Amino acid sequence: MTGRHTEPFDPGAFRNCLGQFPTGVCIVTAKGEGEPVGMTISSFNSLSLDPPLVLFSIGRNAQSLPAWEAAPGYALHVLSQSQDDLSNRFARAASNKWEGVAYTAGLHDAPLLAGAVAVMECAAHACHDGGDHLLFIARVERFRVHADRNPLVFCRGRYRELGTTNERADLWPLDIHY
Ligand SMILES: Cc1cc2nc3c(=O)[nH]c(=O)nc-3n(C[C@H](O)[C@H](O)[C@H](O)COP(=O)(O)O)c2cc1C
Repeated sequence: MTGRHTEPFDPGAFRNCLGQFPTGVCIVTAKGEGEPVGMTISSFNSLSLDPPLVLFSIGRNAQSLPAWEAAPGYALHVLSQSQDDLSNRFARAASNKWEGVAYTAGLHDAPLLAGAVAVMECAAHACHDGGDHLLFIARVERFRVHADRNPLVFCRGRYRELGTTNERADLWPLDIHY
């Protein structure tokens, strides 16, 4: 659909509107009660440099919601473009997401997955109401980056890859404070 949004409020059109914003794709993991928990999210964002905070939101209808609320910390993995299968696996509710997936234990016993572009190991910081989602704020305690890998991109309901030929190197960094 194209064009302006008009009344009455159309949830499907709103979803489509939100989907115009390109994001990366993350898998967030935590210790869980017994089995670890993991979920694909696109709601990751940076929040604060000092203290180092990031945020993500989890739907109130997620089966794993109680585990996220109880978790002392999380590991956030920024997926690389070769990890779309892993993204799909961790987006499937009521499935055995961890079967055959190798991981090591990170801070707060959050599972660490291989192959990501960046990994942030975090302590739980705050949790707020976010309508039909809960907004989680996490304090980054340790991180690493694999700049040789390209991030997976999600936009308009599809996975995409970053093009390498159209980087606007001449325009960046801009002379502004962000
Ligand atoms: C690209 C992508 C991004 C997603 N982003 C989110 C998100 O930010 N928050 C969320 O709650 N679910 C998101 N989902 C859906 C969840 O991954 C899915 O509902 C979840 O794995 C179900 O977990 P459960 O087994 O705990 O119910 C996303 C799915 C995909 C494919």
